[in-house]
Amino acid sequence: MRKIRIALIGYKGIGRMHSHGYRNVLTFFDLDAIPILKIICGRDRDSVCSARDKYGWEEWSTDWTEVVRRKDVDLVDVCTTNDLHCQISVAAAKAGKDVVCEKPLARNLGEVLEMVRAVQAARVRHMISFNYRFVPAVRLAKEIIEEGQIGEIHEWRARWLTELMDPTLPLSWFFQKDKAGYGASGDIGSHIIDLAQYLVGTVIEVASSSQILTHERPIEGGGGRMGRVDVDDAVQFLARFEHGAIGVFEASRCAGGYRDEFEIELNGSKGTLCFNSKILHELRYYSTMDDKRVRGFRTIFVGNEFHPYKESICPYGEIIGRSDVFIIQAYEILRALATGANLSPDFKDGARCQAVLEAVAASSISKKWEIPDYSQIDAKV
Ligand SMILES: NC(=O)c1ccc[n+]([C@@H]2O[C@H](COP(=O)([O-])OP(=O)(O)OC[C@H]3O[C@@H](n4cnc5c(N)ncnc54)[C@H](O)[C@@H]3O)[C@@H](O)[C@H]2O)c1
Repeated sequence: MRKIRIALIGYKGIGRMHSHGYRNVLTFFDLDAIPILKIICGRDRDSVCSARDKYGWEEWSTDWTEVVRRKDVDLVDVCTTNDLHCQISVAAAKAGKDVVCEKPLARNLGEVLEMVRAVQAARVRHMISFNYRFVPAVRLAKEIIEEGQIGEIHEWRARWLTELMDPTLPLSWFFQKDKAGYGASGDIGSHIIDLAQYLVGTVIEVASSSQILTHERPIEGGGGRMGRVDVDDAVQFLARFEHGAIGVFEASRCAGGYRDEFEIELNGSKGTLCFNSKILHELRYYSTMDDKRVRGFRTIFVGNEFHPYKESICPYGEIIGRSDVFIIQAYEILRALATGANLSPDFKDGARCQAVLEAVAASSISKKWEIPDYSQIDAKV
């Protein structure tokens, strides 16, 4: 049984979920690998030490440069602020470690290309944590689409809404371009861009508009001083896909009453599919192939019969939850590493999303259709 020794860099928000996945994956899944929660890393000594104890890691550190070089680490999982994704992933790849990195892959396409080249040059395996791809209902949607059950896709519609417009909220890293790269577009929009490219195909052109609605926020620990917000609070864009479908996207941090909720919808020549992130176990499906007298939307419970992880997680048709998705993600990571398979979605998928993000940002300024630049993503090193 292979032991996979993991280093987790960043553990506060999403890192906690990754930690939960690694710690609990063997409770549900059979694997030919055992995850060893080797070392957890953060900035603050007391907090990271307490996280080690609470989450069950062997060691802690405040120095990621030392952690990624350790001989007793096989996999580096990057859950930090976006400004460090590139540096940490590149250093880990150079040290021969497999790398998992959170989305968006980095702050801009230049950094992302550097990451793609580094993992290719080092021949390490790599993954971006677009974890919604592991939701059983999304997997079923992909199967239904690939079987042609909604026909040729004509339209894609996606919106991700959340509520962060309170002007007293501090100027955290999420509102700063030098740390985050993008605002709502990269933070929440990246997930729906990835799902669009996963379920529909490559985005070839975008026309976008973005807004900053709160221009200044209190600086954290700044004694009432204000700092400038320089990333988008909201973005709306149209997209054209490679096979002729049209997409409508919206990502907003200014939607009162919404807490990190997204909806996607695909309209095809033979039917429609809808998914809402607050009901992870459901798909809505409409088929023009049904007898007209009984035609209408039906709600599919993606329970034990259908989903690909049915033997392991929620086997008796229970409702899947957000934290279960990170157990599935941990399973997919460890299964690939144990069997020598590649990880998916990988850094190239992250780069394809980033190319769209760059085109969206460019279009918001130029007020013209812009073409995502994928040309360097597949270039050989
Ligand atoms: N996949 C998802 O669904 C999802 C959800 C939320 C966040 N994210 C992504 O996860 C990443 C982290 O977001 P978050 O919400 O957890 O942010 P957060 O602010 O809660 O956590 C950031 C973490 O980065 C660590 N960090 C920062 N600088 C560091 C350094 N120099 N050395 C070591 N650690 C350092 C901090 O200690 C902290 O643990 C972002 O890239 C974000 O986009 C992904």
